[in-house]
Amino acid sequence: MSESRFGSLGLRRLRQNAHLRELTREVRVGVEQLIQPLFVVEGIAQRESIPGLTGVYRDTSATLLRQIEQDLEAGVKKFLLFGVPGTKGTTQFSHDFTASQIRGIKQRFGQDLFLSVDVCLCSSTEHGQCGLLNPEGDHLENGRTVQELARQALQFAQAGADCVAPSDMMDGRIGAIREALDGAGLDRTLILSYSAKFHSRFYGPFRVAADSAPKGAVTLKDRASYQIDPARPKDALLSSLRDAEEGADLLMVKPGMPYLDVLASLSQEIPLPWAVYEVSGEYAAIELMAEKGLISAREAHLEAWTAFVRAGAAMIITYGARNARTWLG
Ligand code: PBG
Repeated sequence: MSESRFGSLGLRRLRQNAHLRELTREVRVGVEQLIQPLFVVEGIAQRESIPGLTGVYRDTSATLLRQIEQDLEAGVKKFLLFGVPGTKGTTQFSHDFTASQIRGIKQRFGQDLFLSVDVCLCSSTEHGQCGLLNPEGDHLENGRTVQELARQALQFAQAGADCVAPSDMMDGRIGAIREALDGAGLDRTLILSYSAKFHSRFYGPFRVAADSAPKGAVTLKDRASYQIDPARPKDALLSSLRDAEEGADLLMVKPGMPYLDVLASLSQEIPLPWAVYEVSGEYAAIELMAEKGLISAREAHLEAWTAFVRAGAAMIITYGARNARTWLG
């Protein structure tokens, strides 16, 4: 278009005031798109704050319910629960603690909220890996891990979870979980697959919160042999196509900001609703910069959320969900 059509101000005419900027926005972020992660920890007497995650806590059963009540008052109605059991194992695991929290939440709040529950073994294993180790301790056994994950997902669904969200990255877990749920008559329970979950360094603060960092005297030291390599977007596509085929209702890209390209292309390619997980390290980076007076936390968080929606996310899992009304104004 020629310069004469726009005159001297050109494209800046539509940028000149808040009214025009509001009217011309192509994407919007609303609190209804946000999912708030929750941590509930067995065996602690008081709730604990989490380094880097301002306003997020490792809750006790009692403080969890109070926190959810406050969140509902703040307009947040969708949650992703992480249960941290007090006892860890290597081959045998109890999921009773998390199941009882789910029951408690649902008894109290019913359909006023949408409750997704993370399915993984990293908070349950002594070594912090997401599944069962082989006898040599150098890799995770897929079949036995999937069996345990399906058992865990079924128990969470039976306790009342609206949605189970496997974050382990084993092969075939979506199909196994769908089969277990359907076999128990739980065909209305959704599966949110962490289908494009990368082997990222941005999970640090989460692993403190969930007590799930790889540790101990085992050969396997990280999660690189099951999470997706950051340089392999095609693996993310294959993994997401596979999970969709196996029956996932919702798919996810994780982390968010460093993987916006993946979110943009996968959400075009696969016509299921896409979630993005703004992970703990991304959230903490903004908070820490703000603490140093380098940026405005509020504005930076909103900019990140806008980027996720622009790239194709229908929903955002973010530690800041409970501040959304304040931040969005
Ligand atoms: C694994 C799991 C992880 C997160 C959620 N579930 C990452 C990991 O430790 O590999 C990360 C979430 C975050 O960083 O906020 N069960």
